[in-house]
Amino acid sequence: MRDTVATTPFDDQKPGTSGLRKKVARFQTENYLENYVQSVFDCLSGYEGKTLVVGGDGRFHNREATQIIIAMAAANGFGRVLVGQDGILSTPAVSHIIRKHGAFGGIVLSASHNPGGPDGDFGIKYNGENGGPGTQAVMDRVEARSREITQYQIWRDDEVDLSQTGTSKLGSMKVEIVDPVTDYAELMEELFDMDAIAAMFKGGFNFLFDAMHAVTGPYAKAIFCDRLGAPSSAVINGTPKEDFGGGHPDPNLVHAKTIYEAAMRDDGPDLAAASDGDGDRNLIIGKKCFVTPSDSLAVIAANAHLVPGYADGLKGVARSMPTSGAVDRVAEAMGLPMYETPTGWKFFGNLLDAGDITLCGEESAGTSSSHVREKDGLWAVLMWLNILAARKVSVADIMADHYEQYGRNYYARHDYEEVDSQGANDLVTALRASLSDLPGRVTEAGTIQQADEFAYYDQVDESYTEGQGLRVLFEGGSRIVYRLSGTGTVGSTLRVYIERYEPVGGDLTRETGDAIADLITTSRSLAGIERHTGRTEPNVIT
Ligand code: G1P
Ligand code: ZN
Repeated sequence: MRDTVATTPFDDQKPGTSGLRKKVARFQTENYLENYVQSVFDCLSGYEGKTLVVGGDGRFHNREATQIIIAMAAANGFGRVLVGQDGILSTPAVSHIIRKHGAFGGIVLSASHNPGGPDGDFGIKYNGENGGPGTQAVMDRVEARSREITQYQIWRDDEVDLSQTGTSKLGSMKVEIVDPVTDYAELMEELFDMDAIAAMFKGGFNFLFDAMHAVTGPYAKAIFCDRLGAPSSAVINGTPKEDFGGGHPDPNLVHAKTIYEAAMRDDGPDLAAASDGDGDRNLIIGKKCFVTPSDSLAVIAANAHLVPGYADGLKGVARSMPTSGAVDRVAEAMGLPMYETPTGWKFFGNLLDAGDITLCGEESAGTSSSHVREKDGLWAVLMWLNILAARKVSVADIMADHYEQYGRNYYARHDYEEVDSQGANDLVTALRASLSDLPGRVTEAGTIQQADEFAYYDQVDESYTEGQGLRVLFEGGSRIVYRLSGTGTVGSTLRVYIERYEPVGGDLTRETGDAIADLITTSRSLAGIERHTGRTEPNVIT
């Protein structure tokens, strides 16, 4: 039966962010999740009788939260929920299922690549009917609503059995528990030359995928092993765990060290890859050849025509501002429109919906295309596998060819995590105030040509987004970008993006650390990082 519960609002939801990400303990506070879910429903209209997709990355609290959302959807008048079995659905799978089944929207339970378990993080995101993150306008309304909410609706009944696929009812709402992989695997089948990849595997190609005990395990086993014939040993950490096996499900060289070390060995895999907590990010490493996400986007753009789903070519490409300019060179050579957007996936959604782009990506290991409205980790891995199957050369050869054709953007991101928020804000304020003095200044890394703060006018919805990162551009195409993370849950995280462009004919085979050493030094002195944060070194370099 429907129950109306009186509640008091919480005031720790960050304005301007989409979704909510906090420590598990916070989410376990009485009415905390309920308030947010009701705030989302209160800001939507016309969902009565329609379908809501619900699933998460399997982290601690996923099941309890899934039950609450199902019960609240029933009490608020949704007609049907499509729920992943055991409450599991990857972020790209939710996006696809919303689109395929014409759902009103969906809720993803995840804190992406943040650690899980009782002491870890939990999160919730709302996606709209296009399958992408809720628009900024809707999410701003939700945030405001969450500060004034006084009651929520929930259906009081027996819990739904999440462990079996099938259909049941909660009140008048239909509850369909679906296999998390089926629809997604069918979509991959439509896009890729699965037979060519299977033949490559059969011919001895050595592939290794680290699912990091996160959501992609079941997807990877079904697609790589069952469909494409890779041995079961090709997927490691393939069982989702509530605490990700104690690990940090962030597919970078620090947290996916096992596959990195394997790929650096002579007898290691030809392609090693990983995905994050909710399956939207990707890590690509060839034999003795790490591919930066920025370079991966550029290579995928240059080779997409080799993949059946993209054989007709791309409409355009987009990258987030801090992502390196490697894809710009490809777009220029191919005559494709290139869009530079603020960090975060929602800006790509508008361009994809408008048909302006086919491919997009971020330096933070998110790459995707028009097939969904989220970034998609396994899709990126399949893109690489299909390109490798078509070109029949190694990852290292593909990279060397690419640099010879387009030049090379040496690139690294330095993260100063969990720094004091006041110090981080002071750093940004001081640097912002000095921007107009910077052009013409001679630094260790060369002469500064331009310095500004990135803002973006979205032609599709005519929104204007400011304060998206401080950019320092050097003569010759090098660049340092500073911005504060919007996703950290403790203190502030300062991200410094460092890039040096080496044109065709230059030295294209240097170690990245050497190639950008002067920019690294300059990145610290220019912003007074030690003075403001007390840190002399970043704690994560990707
Ligand atoms: C980070 C990444 C960004 C990505 C977001 C969500 O955000 O940098 O590219 O879209 O996570 O996965 P940030 O913490 O930098 O705000
Ligand atoms: Zn993620």
